[in-house]
Amino acid sequence: MMMKVVIATHNKDKLKELKKGLSQLNIDLLDLSCFSEVGEIIEDGKTLEENALIKAKEVFRLTGLPSIADDTGLEVDALNGKPGVFTARFAGENCSYMDNVNKMLKVMKKIKTSDRGAVFKTVIAFFDGKKELLSIGEVKGMIATEKKGLGGFGYDSIFYVVNEGKTFAEMTIEKKNIISHRGNAIKNLTPKLKSYLETNIKEIA
Ligand code: IMP
Repeated sequence: MMMKVVIATHNKDKLKELKKGLSQLNIDLLDLSCFSEVGEIIEDGKTLEENALIKAKEVFRLTGLPSIADDTGLEVDALNGKPGVFTARFAGENCSYMDNVNKMLKVMKKIKTSDRGAVFKTVIAFFDGKKELLSIGEVKGMIATEKKGLGGFGYDSIFYVVNEGKTFAEMTIEKKNIISHRGNAIKNLTPKLKSYLETNIKEIA
């Protein structure tokens, strides 16, 4: 029997990327649409690691099933690594993706090309009530001077990947998943989850 694992996010865009990225693993991936008891989870950790674990643990507590959560931050060189853990609330509480993008374009307006470097980071946490697994993924890029592309979500339209000559919003989800912070975090989690699943299946047998 396949192990059921809940993807602990209400964000439909993240869910799509996580589902695609984790689809090769031998697990039955569920999402929060099956669990109306899970409301918004307060992310009050000081780091991406803490927030990813808060979400995975809370969803485990409420569903009783192993859970996977992702927390993501954008670290901009010219802003001394900000917004980092505050990436979702960069333009204020309850702001939209576009509010954040517009604020980023505004604060970066006078910054010259060579100083527009940024890193997207994702931490993925898995929790089954006892065992914690953590993985990190990063991608380097630049903050573009204007929005480009219609795909993706969040800051994708202004996150420019130099080697590709494109923003994330100009890529397919498959391409983004190969090179992105989240894709890299999934790649790093995969061997850990595989060996966890092997041990677990042996224990059940
Ligand atoms: P959180 O992990 O849900 O706290 O997300 C942090 C912020 O980063 C949110 O504003 C997201 O919209 C944004 N974000 C997360 N992942 C991505 C991504 O892959 N591309 C662009 N923006 C993202």
